[in-house]
Amino acid sequence: MKQVGILLSGRGSNFLALSDAMEAGDIPARIALVVSNKPNAPGLKHAEERNYKAICIPSAGIEREAYDRQVVKEMQAAQVDIVCLAGFMRLLSTWFVQQYPLRILNIHPSLLPAFPGLHAQREALEWGVKVSGCTVHFVDQELDHGPILLQHAVPVLDDDTEETLSARILQHEHQIYPEALKLVCEERVRVEGRRVLTS
Ligand code: GAR
Repeated sequence: MKQVGILLSGRGSNFLALSDAMEAGDIPARIALVVSNKPNAPGLKHAEERNYKAICIPSAGIEREAYDRQVVKEMQAAQVDIVCLAGFMRLLSTWFVQQYPLRILNIHPSLLPAFPGLHAQREALEWGVKVSGCTVHFVDQELDHGPILLQHAVPVLDDDTEETLSARILQHEHQIYPEALKLVCEERVRVEGRRVLTS
């Protein structure tokens, strides 16, 4: 049974999808800790309602690595094996990434390497792509960049707005994130360069 740590900043719907899959017994893992960097994040409230150990470590005004050291200290105290970023809107320091090599996952609402960053769905619409989607990847030092575990494509429709496209992508985020975490927890992945191979 792996111990999972969740990092979030907001709504927390991906956290809830991961939680549902673990509670249902689909993934051999449990949530050991939920950390929010925002005191008012709805995701933090959801975590408390589900009786997880949930804490806020506010990030405002704190230097990146100093902040990450606080987070990792809590993750280590909770014996976390795998960290899942679930709408955590901060770049991790190199130091943090080195503490959990190939043990930090992120979900992003585009087909990476297209549209990294904060406004992926808006940028996809503005660019005029006909297909977008979502990506689960291992986290490395660069933003939305590490080796890709799973992706799912969705069509971009002529009458899409940022909201409708985001909602269509989000449904699939909630499917591929638990699938990817399951692969990692079952130790069914190996990484060769940028390629993640599954068995
Ligand atoms: C999700 O769409 C996630 O892919 C995105 O933030 C949203 C969080 O929603 N993450 C990124 O853009 C990371 N660069 P949630 O809080 O409901 O899971």
